[in-house]
Amino acid sequence: MRDSLLIKAAFSEVTERPPVWMMRQAGRFMKEYWDIKNKYSFLEMCKTPELAADVTMLPVDLLGIDGAILFSDILVTAEAMGGDLSFNQGVGPLFANPVRTKADIDNLQTDVSQKLQYVADAIKVIQQRLNGRIPLIGFAGAPFTVMSYLVEGGSSKDFKLTKLMLHNEPEMAHQLLSKIATVTADYLNMQIAAGVNAVQIFDSWAQALAWDDYKEFSHRYIVEIISKLNRKDIPVISFCKGSSVFAPLMAEAKPDVISIDWNVDLLDIKKRLPAGIAVQGNLDPHILYADKKVIKERIYRLFDRMKGENGFIFNLGHGIMPDIPFDNVKYAIEIIKEYPPAP
Ligand code: CP3
Repeated sequence: MRDSLLIKAAFSEVTERPPVWMMRQAGRFMKEYWDIKNKYSFLEMCKTPELAADVTMLPVDLLGIDGAILFSDILVTAEAMGGDLSFNQGVGPLFANPVRTKADIDNLQTDVSQKLQYVADAIKVIQQRLNGRIPLIGFAGAPFTVMSYLVEGGSSKDFKLTKLMLHNEPEMAHQLLSKIATVTADYLNMQIAAGVNAVQIFDSWAQALAWDDYKEFSHRYIVEIISKLNRKDIPVISFCKGSSVFAPLMAEAKPDVISIDWNVDLLDIKKRLPAGIAVQGNLDPHILYADKKVIKERIYRLFDRMKGENGFIFNLGHGIMPDIPFDNVKYAIEIIKEYPPAP
């Protein structure tokens, strides 16, 4: 796997073309996902290694991407710590016992690797199925993003309760973040021991934070997690929505790759990062709703811009939306593999 396109690009080595994978590549935009989802709940799918492997393999077999991503969710750590988690169609994740007080935080467990053993089991089944074809990316949520779900009790637009805890009860917030960070580092090391070839940390909602708050309540825990990872030959990808602003700080945590949203020119931001840090991104996922002509034009524009740069992994700035046409995703991957176009 060390010689695959994805791992080489992640370590900023020369590749014959940029590798491609897409966040949320195994999901609701695929009919084949619904064939499974209509029979099982989302958490059942995550917790049954054979089913998690079936879903992980869908984009490998149907789209021909250059990296598989473990089928799971960033909230499985929070569930293992004691969160009463359910996923409801159209509502998203819900925690029936939100974490709001010091007693709630004290009650959260940190020794949870046994409870997450099903993820290690899934990784082993997936690696058997992949059989060395392409690398498998493991992942976890960043402490701030996971904290936001625990405190709000689910998804949120403005993160009001989470931010109130950061601002009014910073010690409590740190206690919670620190517990999540401990679990997350152990969990990613468990995934590495089970056989993933790369790991990505998702800080999806960091963009809600002011610079100082990002530094104090998010960034420092990502630094802690990355410093604890057994990362020999395992590239670490750091993702956040808001990376067009936070990337220079994210680089201080020393990931191998920073995943960039679509608000910034990818080459410009790469040039502002220390040498040896690769970038991933940064197509606006909405481009995949557009006409094929536009999809090709925009992807090739990005590739032309990044031409000659080592350390570029094509991805979207955020995940694929459930109603993006499958055919457009497939087309995007086909034309990426044809790049550069014949003169
Ligand atoms: O990328 C992949 O294909 C791998 C699987 C994956 C899922 N969730 C499957 C999923 C990954 C990497 C995630 C990460 C995740 N989960 C994030 C970070 C990435 C991001 O998009 O910012 C976040 C914030 C979550 C939390 C979460 N899980 C939400 C908010 C929701 C519901 C709303 C939504 O966007 O779908 C989920 C459910 C979820 N996770 C689904 C899938 C396929 C949908 C489940 C269903 O079929 O109803």
